[in-house]
Amino acid sequence: MVTIAVTAEAPDEPRFAVSPETVKKLSALGAKVRVEAGAGGRSRFSDDALKAAGAEIAAGAAEALSGADMLLKVRRPSADEIRQLKPGAIVAAILDPYDKAAIEPLAGTGANLFSMEFMPRISRAQSMDVLSSQANLAGYKAVVDAASLFGQALPMMMTAAGTVPAAKTFIMGVGVAGLQAIATARRLGSIVSATDVRPATKEQVQSLGAKFIAVEDDEFKQAQTAAGYAKPMSAEYQAKQAALVAEHIKNQDIVITTALIPGRPAPKLVSAAMLAAMKPGSVIVDLAAERGGNVEGTVPGQTVEVSGVKIVGPLNLAGSVPVNASSLYAKNLYAFLELFFDKKEKTLKVNWDDEIIKGTLVAKDGKIVHPNLASA
Ligand code: NAI
Repeated sequence: MVTIAVTAEAPDEPRFAVSPETVKKLSALGAKVRVEAGAGGRSRFSDDALKAAGAEIAAGAAEALSGADMLLKVRRPSADEIRQLKPGAIVAAILDPYDKAAIEPLAGTGANLFSMEFMPRISRAQSMDVLSSQANLAGYKAVVDAASLFGQALPMMMTAAGTVPAAKTFIMGVGVAGLQAIATARRLGSIVSATDVRPATKEQVQSLGAKFIAVEDDEFKQAQTAAGYAKPMSAEYQAKQAALVAEHIKNQDIVITTALIPGRPAPKLVSAAMLAAMKPGSVIVDLAAERGGNVEGTVPGQTVEVSGVKIVGPLNLAGSVPVNASSLYAKNLYAFLELFFDKKEKTLKVNWDDEIIKGTLVAKDGKIVHPNLASA
């Protein structure tokens, strides 16, 4: 029988890698899921609920890990944890794979390491895409947090005592997080505008009822890679973009920045001069904080005030809605793990040539094997 271990995350990670729903589904595939006692608690997955779904509750991490075929985590596990599994076990998590110094010792254990961030963006893998499931929640939460920090109302209200004007919200970077931020800000009654460098986003922004603002030159027309991500933009483009943003941002109340380029530091989109021109009391939530931030002055993990503008640099915003984030993450992992099972025989059967397996495999037989990490 295939044994899947699931151990507790670090104190700063409230999410969890399985839910009662996915334990049930994994058990139906023929796996035994061994969960460390209490480890799902912060996502409100009690031991009782996990047990009722078919999980075995292990008294501690060592008991859960011992000789297991697979380890599921949200964050990167330690080499010590991996060494307690079966040799050549399968490990799936958000590994932060570009952090070479941290990945090498894990690769050295000989385990098959799968990085969920490398999920190919093909339709077959949509249900396995953790960046999307988590970014969507982060986009929602960024707007809700900004609204609560902003000392004014978001919707226009016409009352007997006078009219409250609608707040203006500007979303920078319209990927998965940005699209949800637009939708959420609209639902709260704000007037919304948005910018991106990928032309495909224009219609998406407009269809959500927001105004699209961007430098639409020839470089913009080429800015999307085949994988659907943005390319780094030239210095000329960045200067034109900065001039446009500087003019627009002066009148904004809430700004949500989400701009990212895979494997690179986040592009700087909001300068100190732009902050100085903004209205005091405005709020910026910089979702790129974990990757260096889109805003000059963002402090990851903190809220700071620059020129009267509050800048929030959240780390793990999806983790602040852990029940939803864990449920979706667990479903992503389940959809991925289905690929590893022979459903008839109820055994592990890995097709190493599958595009999804190849695309997410970071290390095998003691070596780092992913092409994105070849020169890293
Ligand atoms: P991301 O998190 O890598 O980046 C966020 C946004 O920032 C992107 O829209 C990007 O174009 C933008 N950006 C980068 N540099 C910028 C700059 N200098 N100025 C302004 N904006 C900038 O992107 P995410 O959320 O991962 O989405 C990327 C694309 O992948 C989207 O088109 C999304 O719909 C698509 N996608 C496809 C999936 C599939 O087919 N399985 C699953 C998920 C997303």
